[in-house]
Amino acid sequence: MDIIFHDIHSDKPQKQEYLIELKQDMDIVLSGIRPTGNLHLGNYFGAAKNFVKMQYENQCYFFIADYHSLTTHPHPENLQQNVRQILIEYLAMGIDPEAATLYAQSDIPETAELYMFLNMNAYLGELERCTSFKDKVRQQPNNINAGLLTYPTLMAADILIHHADKVPVGKDQEQHLEMTRVFANRFNKMYGVSYFKEPQAYNFNRQLVKIPGLDGSTKMGKSTGNAIFLNDEPAVIRKKVMKAKTDAGPTEMNQQPPQEIENLFTIMKNVCPEDTYQYFREAYNNCTIRYGEMKKQLAEDIITFCAPIKERIDELSKDDAYLLKVRALGAEKARESARKTLREVRQIIGFGNI
Ligand code: TYM
Repeated sequence: MDIIFHDIHSDKPQKQEYLIELKQDMDIVLSGIRPTGNLHLGNYFGAAKNFVKMQYENQCYFFIADYHSLTTHPHPENLQQNVRQILIEYLAMGIDPEAATLYAQSDIPETAELYMFLNMNAYLGELERCTSFKDKVRQQPNNINAGLLTYPTLMAADILIHHADKVPVGKDQEQHLEMTRVFANRFNKMYGVSYFKEPQAYNFNRQLVKIPGLDGSTKMGKSTGNAIFLNDEPAVIRKKVMKAKTDAGPTEMNQQPPQEIENLFTIMKNVCPEDTYQYFREAYNNCTIRYGEMKKQLAEDIITFCAPIKERIDELSKDDAYLLKVRALGAEKARESARKTLREVRQIIGFGNI
């Protein structure tokens, strides 16, 4: 089969049959990020770091989950701006749009059709029991909409539409993956087919990751005021880290650090060189640690880590033409796979057989 891809650096379409053939035997990898604000260290170490590592050895789909963000009713201008920003940040973190399929969820309306089909087969009790739904009910009691309730079926549609094997995500998404497997198996059983696969939540280091916040809480979040964003200015990073919650210091050798200190060590473990991490761990264990010194080092290592990403963000922000090309290329590639799935799903369900 001849598949024509557009080289985004030139206007001429190019044939990449070899690449496609190679990729046909590979695992299918898929993941998404909601456009609800800039990306932070949690998004990077929990998910995106894996995307970059996996993109050349797998057939990858990475997308901007803009349908998902509608549960919070964004203003159209903000939505557009946020989608653009996540596209920029995906590229700045190192996603190669020619190797991976990088697209906006709303460019693939087939997703909404599959979501509708899966919703016919998802039950109120299981959706209400989902932890992320229960959290949202607590956080936004005045906006408990049907989109929040059926968030896991939309996620299942995203994943199943491209028949993903591996889904690199942070620890908070584990239950959504379990539900995706339930919906996939239920569909297969209901129609007597073995059509959908069982996708697995994935992290390169085996264990799913949860990066904690700077405020002592166990999860860094976009809107919780406890995050370091990849495009934060160095002065902002220093200020945030220096203000991070700490305690009065250890009083006994080898004592278990309290949550807020363990959080700083977890961030260190991800960002700093191993010997820096070990140096401060030992200092904690033998009660000689100085939190000021530890935070200064952590801030500088975060700045060093974020600097090249921030530089790319600034460059890409000026290149609308490139961003448009990337988005169009991603939509074209993703739609081809989505259309095929929907054709097959409609047939399995029994549509169009007169
Ligand atoms: P979102 O936008 O909340 O987060 C994007 C990715 O970042 C991970 N993440 C974290 N990982 C570790 N520590 C943290 N503190 C942290 N905060 C966020 C998330 O686990 C996620 O992998 N529902 C998804 C988006 C989505 C999706 C999908 C993902 C929609 N459809 C299909 C995979 C497959 C979400 O809200 O991600």
